[in-house]
Amino acid sequence: MSAVLRLLCAATLIGSIANAGAAMAEEPTAIEARVESLLGQMTLEEKIGQLTQLSNVGDTTGPLPDDETRRRNMELVKAGTIGSMLNVVGVEEVRIVQDYAVNNSRLGIPLIFGFDVVHGHKTSFPIPLGEAASWDLELIEESARIAATEAAAQGLNWTFAPMADISRDPRWGRVMEGAGEDPYLGAEIAVARVRGFQGNDLSRPDTIAATVKHFAGYGFSESGRDYNTVDFSSTTLFNVVLPPFRAAVKRANARTVMNAFNIVNGIPATGNTFLQREILKGEWGFDGFVVSDWASGLEMINHGFAADEREAARLAIQAGSDMDMESFIYPDHLQDLVESGEVPPALIDDAVRRILRVKYELGLFDDPYRYLDESRETAVLLSPENLATARKIAERSIVLLKNDDHLLPLKNGEKVALIGALAADKDSPIGNWRAMSESDSAVSVVDAFEAADINFTYAEGAVLEIGNAGFPDPVVVNTEDRSGFSEAVAAARGADKVVIVLGEDARQSGEGRSRTRLGFPGVQQELLEAVTQANPNTILVVMSGRPLVLSWADENVASIVQAWHLGSESGHALTNVLTGKYNPSGKLPMSFPRSVGQVPVYYNHFNTGRPDEIPDVFWSHFTDEKNTPLYPFGHGLSYTSFAYSDLAAVSEGDTCSVEVTVANTGKVAGEEVVQLYIRDRAASVVRPVRELKGFRKILLQPGERKALRFRLGPDELGFYNGDGEFLVESGMFDVFVGGVSTAELSTPFSYEPR
Ligand code: NOJ
Repeated sequence: MSAVLRLLCAATLIGSIANAGAAMAEEPTAIEARVESLLGQMTLEEKIGQLTQLSNVGDTTGPLPDDETRRRNMELVKAGTIGSMLNVVGVEEVRIVQDYAVNNSRLGIPLIFGFDVVHGHKTSFPIPLGEAASWDLELIEESARIAATEAAAQGLNWTFAPMADISRDPRWGRVMEGAGEDPYLGAEIAVARVRGFQGNDLSRPDTIAATVKHFAGYGFSESGRDYNTVDFSSTTLFNVVLPPFRAAVKRANARTVMNAFNIVNGIPATGNTFLQREILKGEWGFDGFVVSDWASGLEMINHGFAADEREAARLAIQAGSDMDMESFIYPDHLQDLVESGEVPPALIDDAVRRILRVKYELGLFDDPYRYLDESRETAVLLSPENLATARKIAERSIVLLKNDDHLLPLKNGEKVALIGALAADKDSPIGNWRAMSESDSAVSVVDAFEAADINFTYAEGAVLEIGNAGFPDPVVVNTEDRSGFSEAVAAARGADKVVIVLGEDARQSGEGRSRTRLGFPGVQQELLEAVTQANPNTILVVMSGRPLVLSWADENVASIVQAWHLGSESGHALTNVLTGKYNPSGKLPMSFPRSVGQVPVYYNHFNTGRPDEIPDVFWSHFTDEKNTPLYPFGHGLSYTSFAYSDLAAVSEGDTCSVEVTVANTGKVAGEEVVQLYIRDRAASVVRPVRELKGFRKILLQPGERKALRFRLGPDELGFYNGDGEFLVESGMFDVFVGGVSTAELSTPFSYEPR
């Protein structure tokens, strides 16, 4: 570790101890004393047990435990040699398993129960990428808060969320779980989500511990193929990949971190000492625990890093992977590794201490059954208030991509043809990683049109999915059956306007769902072309878990709405946007490519040495495609218009203050996400052409103007070099403010840090 890192390390340790109080009621020192006293009573076998997490059946992304394995697991719980279970959900189930641990094992140490509560628990919220499009931090926090309340009511103590992986690759199916391509937005959202899950007091029965995952770099899987190699520069690591994790740990005090399946520059994340010990636990002073991803310790053998299971166990614990999820390498090998002197007992103690600390903070030792209350389970799940919030955030997650000739909003009495299998689908809006949300439980667009009394006829047009793929199953797409086309075309002809809902089934994004073609799966593109030809007043609604390539639609369809997978209230939220009851305000958290060949295409790229178009070919470009995305990061229209003016930037001391005025120049009230970007013109490490450094979501009545002030300090104007040192340099900057990452309004300022 460099001297600078060591210094930072000492400073952050102090910071993190002071911080830790935010998430717990009991004094940290009292907890530490209890941890030490318990640790002193534990055998080595019991300690290793705390480092072991096993799964019940459920939505697992690895092999399911069979009956015999489950019986064995319960025996291990009784013996006190398991620290945590995942996928045990519901008051009744959790009580049974917790009972084994508390009343049968020698020390009665309670289990911590984890589950993937990713976008809601029973009430389904928009997929995280969709929620990110709201840029509404308060609502995002509230959605996580509700998810925590529902999960806790079902006996859970811990969620494996939020996913803080930045990704620039829509081919990667897991972009649906994250906040998109930008580290600044990603950091703000990770903080909001962790705060939502953990609340102000982790010991309350309606809060759960959060997990920031996947540490680190998983979003950079080569070619977007899941579990693939990750290899990037250290400046990308420090400036793009790590900031959301750092913010979640240091600002929001996330109590757990999950490592990742992938290698990072040749070293598996799970066996990565630099990431887990030096950065996370050292520099950032993280005092919670690290859980491995599902059998990621074992996968180090396939990676070619560990020769066998024994070595995998040694490498993982040495690198700081405290709790092993499902690979069983710790119980099988750690005892022997300690006894042979290959693993110092202090490493085991450190890991156990971290896990016990979080269990104490959760209040599990005071009442291991504190989360278990049948009446709360019934009252809390899917309550009308939770559904109302789900609708509110779903409305705000929708992005109006295009609206030529003001085709939207729909007008009263207009005759609408509603087309597409997804329009009637009550399942896809629930999205992937759906926790305990029921299949087929969303309000479909058809349901909502009926409820809103819209004058419409529905035609499916074409089936999207053949069968009904579950969490682990491949999706079989209809590529042949066009028998519904004629009905859809006839409906389109007979209507004033068409709303056609196309996109992806819930199970086409998420883990293991990488795609190389980002158009509409199956025969949907053909259906779109036939329908658009039949009626030019066509509005395309895209339901998907990722940015799709919409180039044809952009050229040929008048209005396009990006609707992600919006959760329980999907249909109502969409209807409110389509009818103008809610004026859309979402902005893209990820660039939408023109073609797959452009990927990765992202707004905060470097300029290159040959950025400018010249008549000959020797500039940085494609000969068959533009450089720009189809829809840039931050893009999103409204039914009103906004004008930006009076931009001024004034440097004073180590701060630059930026002022701008935003006016609603249209006829209806609307919310705008005011975005601020900087460009550092020249620096000792090349900086991107633009970087988001501030945003605010504001509501403006027609004709209303608001003056806003942003503050840019060293945190916003500095950057990391390849050694992980944070540098704040003097020089010329440009600041850009507007409603999109390509905003033109700009002003320069010079900056002289103290
Ligand atoms: C594997 C996934 O990568 C991870 O995100 C998830 O939390 C675990 N499985 C547990 O389900």
